[in-house]
Amino acid sequence: TRTPVNVTVTGAAGQIGYALLFRIAAGHLLGADVPVNLRLLEITPALKAAEGTAMELDDAAFPLLRGIEISDDANVAFDGANVALLVGARPRTAGMERGDLLSANGGIFKPQGKAINDHAADDIKVLVVGNPANTNALIARAAAPDVPAERFTAMTRLDHNRAIAQLAKKTGVQVADIKRMTIWGNHSATQYPDVFHAEIAGKKAAEVVNDEAWLAETFIPTVAKRGAAIIEARGASSAASAASAALDHVHTWVNGTADGDWTSMAVVSDGSYGVPEGLISSFPVTTKDGAYEIVQGLDINDFSRARIDASVKELEEEREAVRSLDLI
Ligand code: NAI
Repeated sequence: TRTPVNVTVTGAAGQIGYALLFRIAAGHLLGADVPVNLRLLEITPALKAAEGTAMELDDAAFPLLRGIEISDDANVAFDGANVALLVGARPRTAGMERGDLLSANGGIFKPQGKAINDHAADDIKVLVVGNPANTNALIARAAAPDVPAERFTAMTRLDHNRAIAQLAKKTGVQVADIKRMTIWGNHSATQYPDVFHAEIAGKKAAEVVNDEAWLAETFIPTVAKRGAAIIEARGASSAASAASAALDHVHTWVNGTADGDWTSMAVVSDGSYGVPEGLISSFPVTTKDGAYEIVQGLDINDFSRARIDASVKELEEEREAVRSLDLI
């Protein structure tokens, strides 16, 4: 029998947490044969709500769920963690400047990064979901100098999945027919969903679509602004789709991409494609045996170059801002 994997989820009592935990316990994070211990980190006022969720997890009698611990202390919650899903974050409220938002999140992600550094298992893998996700990941990573930098990632898989869904609708194919979608840059409105390397049932997606105006004026803004459209329609931000993307991100990282395909993950740049080293930016990546590599050698046309550069510029500005706040 396998040793259970310790999975720490922050913001466990929030809406993404509620959509995420039951699916982790069902085996959708790591695989249907991998037992898990859940560690839930919440702020003190939300501990009771987290306990309610834990009661429901008990009541679901998941065979793979071997234990649940709840804490408001990051040093306890990350102790021995193999996978950390950093979902809890400080949302932007009316009148909040970017500097306020970044420093409020620095107050969360810096101590969590340190707790991961000091207490997590050697094979720790971190996914940051809480926004601004790329820069929160940068902050956590800077606070964890003993953890290899490539273990800190941020989520653009929801954007990736949204892009596949939009392209499948437009071209009348199944989502499974679409390969090699790429999200570049920041998980924000500047992100760039790139179909120039994507394939639809083996054909070049851009040629199947054959409509650059649709790409520029409909596809890209629809994907980039989908979060706002969900809020408008649902009266609450995307939660189940975000949880689903977080499961996909970690499942792909651990279990590998299919031959001939890749995924999108925000990872520490090694300078590939002109993205300054050290930024946590979304790239096309392949994964195998629990490790990932940025796909190399793709031709970047002018249309793509301008959009990648704009999103990377925003990431550089965020990095400058957190540097000046002493958060990295
Ligand atoms: P929510 O507000 O429902 O839940 C957040 C939870 O985090 C709350 O229960 C809160 O008590 C907790 N929390 C706050 N500070 C904490 C701390 N220091 N330690 C532990 N827990 C803490 O929010 P929701 O809808 O679950 O979203 C969570 C985050 O995910 C937000 O930042 C949201 O913007 C982001 N998000 C990211 C997406 C992506 O694609 N990267 C997609 C959708 C949401």
